[in-house]
Amino acid sequence: MRNKTLSPQSDALMPRDLRVNYRVMARSISSCRIGANFLAVSAILLLAGCGGGSAGNGDNPVVPPTPAPEPAKVFASAAAMGESLFFDKNLSLNRTQACATCHDPERAFTDSRLDDAGLPPAFSLGDDGFSRVSRNVPTAAYASQTPIFQFGTQARFNSQQPDYEGYIGGQFLDGRAADLEEQAKGPPIGAQEMGMPDKASVVERLQENPDYVVSFKAIYSEDIFDDVEAAYDAMAESIAAFERTELFASFDSKYDKSLTGDYLYEPGSKAALGKALFFSQQFTNCATCHQLEPNGSRNETFTNFEFHNIGTPVNEEARIAANIPLDELDEGLLANPDVNDPAEIGKYKVPTLRNIAVTAPYMNNGVFRKLETVIRFYDKFFVGSDNLINPETGAPWREPPFPDTVSLAELEDGRKLSEDDIEALVCFLRTLTDQRYEPLIEERGIACD
Ligand code: HEC
Ligand code: HEC
Repeated sequence: MRNKTLSPQSDALMPRDLRVNYRVMARSISSCRIGANFLAVSAILLLAGCGGGSAGNGDNPVVPPTPAPEPAKVFASAAAMGESLFFDKNLSLNRTQACATCHDPERAFTDSRLDDAGLPPAFSLGDDGFSRVSRNVPTAAYASQTPIFQFGTQARFNSQQPDYEGYIGGQFLDGRAADLEEQAKGPPIGAQEMGMPDKASVVERLQENPDYVVSFKAIYSEDIFDDVEAAYDAMAESIAAFERTELFASFDSKYDKSLTGDYLYEPGSKAALGKALFFSQQFTNCATCHQLEPNGSRNETFTNFEFHNIGTPVNEEARIAANIPLDELDEGLLANPDVNDPAEIGKYKVPTLRNIAVTAPYMNNGVFRKLETVIRFYDKFFVGSDNLINPETGAPWREPPFPDTVSLAELEDGRKLSEDDIEALVCFLRTLTDQRYEPLIEERGIACD
């Protein structure tokens, strides 16, 4: 899927702010003489100051001529139309939200809006301006790598733990959408997300746009709009096709480059030590859950898509701020309508660690702000741990909401980490950042060089 999906024609359908960005970016790209014109690539080039061109011609405002009405345009492919849909705020009730609002390609497809404290939110604001889903936005990048939701067994690598048997994969933290198509049907009619009352109203919004009308007919079928379900499904299919493009899964982090000889973990560096720790059986258990393929495989996902309860505490502050009752606990995997076994309560799909250094806050509920805190949290399970206090609160780690299903066998399998080990793991995790997001890594506290 190397063909470009971002066509200038589609920018008429983009939200205004993104559209402006895209124009600026297009300019900065041409001045850099770089061929790739994916939105996010260009956004980062811009962030990095590439080309240095100024966005506007402030001194001499030129009034553009009124454009002649253009004929409706047919998107070249489902993925190209999916891109336009992904950025289209008209698919939300008040026309304030698109998928890209919460999955911003400039921030590894997570929410880039900041809360009152100037931090990325634990729970994202919905289109109604006050509702929030009580889950932290996962990245939509690499979501295409997730297998469909299933019950099965799988081998583990670099683990002293036996093979896994249980639920695997699916979209959402509880796997309740089998695949990307199913997933994309949720947010437009989600009350706390894009807020449309029903599928029919979404399909009406689609038909406001002549480009969609001709394209749905051309790509799917002439009578597609006669059937609300079919049109809605086609929209989801188109968005999913976009999510399967390379823009979402570029596999060009330093880690990836190290596999092709284009990057070397400098022997003795913190990142090199962190890599060794991460993939070791004796020193850490990370690979038990965050490694899918044998060592050195291309396109490692850094999750094996298993479901585990790692004892993440409730994010009480975020719940109070969002008016979500503290006793309405998130049951995790058990909230998936296809799962009935109470033994699954409190488990979440293991998330990918790709781009983890730029997608704070962490965990299903955004309860931790720093990567370092996440590592210290894991360390608390080891005998003799020096990390019994949450450095972000100064208080002991809160109890897990569902203590009975915590994956203790896996979590206690390892030995306590030194301060150097913690730094090393953070430095290794930073090398899992896609090239275009590297400028977003904040050195917060730990210097890796
Ligand atoms: C208001 C913010 C918001 C909007 C808008 C939104 N999402 Fe999400 N997205 C989330 C949250 C929160 C989750 C996790 C929810 C859960 O697990 O129950 C999520 C989960 C996902 C996932 C699953 C990732 C994974 O690893 O399981 C994908 C893919 C995704 N969204 C794509 C989309 C698409 C496509 C759209 C537009 C049709 C969209 N999102 C609109 C907040 C949002
Ligand atoms: C038993 C399986 C398991 C092991 C072992 C494990 N993890 Fe995880 N990891 C998970 C699960 C499940 C989550 C999501 C938990 C949640 O949201 O409550 C997670 C979340 C994370 C996150 C936050 C991801 C995000 O997007 O918010 C990071 C970072 C992480 N793990 C790194 C590590 C490292 C480093 C190690 C080794 C020290 C490790 N994990 C060991 C299962 C595991």
